[in-house]
Amino acid sequence: MLMVDLIRKKRDGGKLTKEEIEYMVKGYTQGEIPDYQMSAMLMAILFRHMDPEETVELTLAMMNSGEVLDLSAINGIKVDKHSTGGVGDKTSLVLTPMVASLGVPVAKMSGRGLGHTGGTIDKLESFTGFHTDISNEQFLQNVSKIGISIMGQTANLAPADKKLYALRDVTGTVDNLSLIVSSIMSKKLAAGADAIVLDVKCGNGAFMKTEEDATELATSMVDIGKRLNRKMVAVISDMEQPLGYAVGNALEVQEAIDTLNGRGPEDLKELCLTLGSQMVYLAGKANDEAEARQRLEQVLDDGTALHKFADFIEAQGGDREQVYHPEKLPKATLTCEVKAENDGYVEKIRCEEVGNTSLLLGGGRRSKTDVIDLSVGIILKKKTGDQVSAGESIATLYANDEQKMKEAAERLYQAYTFSERKTEPGKLIKKIIR
Ligand code: URA
Repeated sequence: MLMVDLIRKKRDGGKLTKEEIEYMVKGYTQGEIPDYQMSAMLMAILFRHMDPEETVELTLAMMNSGEVLDLSAINGIKVDKHSTGGVGDKTSLVLTPMVASLGVPVAKMSGRGLGHTGGTIDKLESFTGFHTDISNEQFLQNVSKIGISIMGQTANLAPADKKLYALRDVTGTVDNLSLIVSSIMSKKLAAGADAIVLDVKCGNGAFMKTEEDATELATSMVDIGKRLNRKMVAVISDMEQPLGYAVGNALEVQEAIDTLNGRGPEDLKELCLTLGSQMVYLAGKANDEAEARQRLEQVLDDGTALHKFADFIEAQGGDREQVYHPEKLPKATLTCEVKAENDGYVEKIRCEEVGNTSLLLGGGRRSKTDVIDLSVGIILKKKTGDQVSAGESIATLYANDEQKMKEAAERLYQAYTFSERKTEPGKLIKKIIR
């Protein structure tokens, strides 16, 4: 088989076979197919597309390019959750102890990645001593004993995706449905889940800007997962403004703890209940979604989910006292209020700019080697539709550097648009695709 023949075939609108896709993915992962040929193939796929069968084969080939986790030692249906990413998204921190409290085993691999704040693992490292470099045996043991364990993503999980994503990033070939679907699903499937609940975000702070695009992506991922015999549900949720009020690692952890204590923001709680009831139902721990939701509300109300979170933090070396005393989490030395200049209403919040403010303060990574400042970030005081008076605070910044704080304050103000009339915020849960 010659790669150039496969490039020509796709360039002319042909359909690649299972063998051809396997040859291409294996050859590229092993360094036998050069970047320039794979770049040409990616561009051909971008213009000519792949059909659902090709997308399934691409997903499988990428999944099989490295280690595929075997979770069969853990009893029950293993349900994983994936978010396509947004600003202030601390859902996993709240959701995992909620569903684990109802007996849904959570065996999760999480990444750090680049972005406005750290990933789930970075956020969890706000707890003194918490770590995710545990052995496979310890990981499985913790899931069996406590119900939750989170492990750092191994280098050998879908290595084809690591190489391909980096290449797509610099060749203008990210925006293709089959490439996105295979990238996300190959990693989720390699992590060993029997069922997957997807949180596909849409809006100005999300990868998918419109509900139509988010629906197309969600439908395609659900379809591919089902073809591979996984139980699948996708929730399309709003990302026209940050989720909750906190953006920044330790600040988000604190908001997650508040939510587990029943004092969290309504949007975060609602999203956790929606995603959680899908997870509990798919895991067979409730007869229907309504019963799952009711039981999740109960474990939030009676403190079970909070204690489960503390057990999980402790099992991975963290200080459980910080769960009950979040004031002991990392704290920034400086704060400043960002104030409204005029009376009016918040019309819009550009999520990306809020994220960039957190990045500017040191809360995220621009390159893989950047060290994150866990203590910095933003607490929004006003969200879309809220009334503001001139001089009133719209957000508090937490910083450790005077100059960065000044720049961040200007940037955050620019993220807001005000109007004279009240704007209704968009619906949080747009639709559920089963
Ligand atoms: N996230 C991924 O993991 N892959 C993509 O292609 C896009 C978003």
